[in-house]
Amino acid sequence: MQRVDTITALHAQIKSWRDNKMTIAFVPTMGNLHQGHLSLMSKAHELADKVIVSIFVNPLQFDDKSDLSAYPRTLDADIKLLSSTACNAVFTPTAEVMYPNGMTPHTTIIVPNMDDKLCGLKRPGHFDGVATVVVKLLNMVQPDVAVFGEKDYQQLLLIKALKHDLNLPVDIVGAPTYREASGLAMSSRNQYLTDSERKQAAGLHQTLVDIQKKIAAGEHDFPALQQQGVEQLRSLGFEPDYVDIRRAIDLKYANSGDKHLRLLAAARLGKARLIDNIACILA
Ligand code: PAJ
Repeated sequence: MQRVDTITALHAQIKSWRDNKMTIAFVPTMGNLHQGHLSLMSKAHELADKVIVSIFVNPLQFDDKSDLSAYPRTLDADIKLLSSTACNAVFTPTAEVMYPNGMTPHTTIIVPNMDDKLCGLKRPGHFDGVATVVVKLLNMVQPDVAVFGEKDYQQLLLIKALKHDLNLPVDIVGAPTYREASGLAMSSRNQYLTDSERKQAAGLHQTLVDIQKKIAAGEHDFPALQQQGVEQLRSLGFEPDYVDIRRAIDLKYANSGDKHLRLLAAARLGKARLIDNIACILA
């Protein structure tokens, strides 16, 4: 596995693959890699000849600066882990490589209808930071396909929207959420949990599954189901941000006629803010 940390070295690596008619799949990450990230790499490996991963903790997407400084940075362990996977190259730029003139002012990609809902409401500017860095990374790597996790469902829809709106020549592929046996979605933020909180944390997924079962059984009063979800999370020791039943296609509020739903929740537990979501398809 090659490691490149400048744009010149990245372009040389990409060119050598292109010269050999290889297709390229790209998996952007912020590092602190876990099985969830590795599952994206397996997906990427199915989709192209070469897999390139980026590791960059993007300051532009952190609305809370203490969250940025606390974000786990484990580059040596990440690189070791990646060498044992299907990854062919890892791009590890510094902030100076990504933002040579600083981050403010900077041309910014703003995808509409994101800041007014779900995690956008709670994290002002977060999605502009994600959209901007993802467009920069896609322009640097120029892959055929880029893989993102459904774990961050709103982020996945944002990236599909910007690809569509800006005619980016890349396929955006979503990959399923990789979970622990308890149902807890793997996340870099899980390490902020104590052992007992980690057991409690599975309640986030369970709450969504319980709503899914109620909808399947014919309960279609969505506001009431959302409220029950919030109360369930509180009773399990969470501080809920939201429990929402949305249309899977655009995350607008769902009506009882909608068939493809997404159930999404965010809640604090101890020092961690956890998010999760699942599909809910009606016959
Ligand atoms: P990060 O949180 O490191 O996640 C990188 C990718 O891994 C994202 O596409 C995310 O959805 C996916 N992922 C995380 N946990 C997962 C799990 N349990 N199962 C499957 N996929 C999972 O998301 C970001 O970084 C950043 O916002 C980024 C897109 C890199 C832009 O900075």
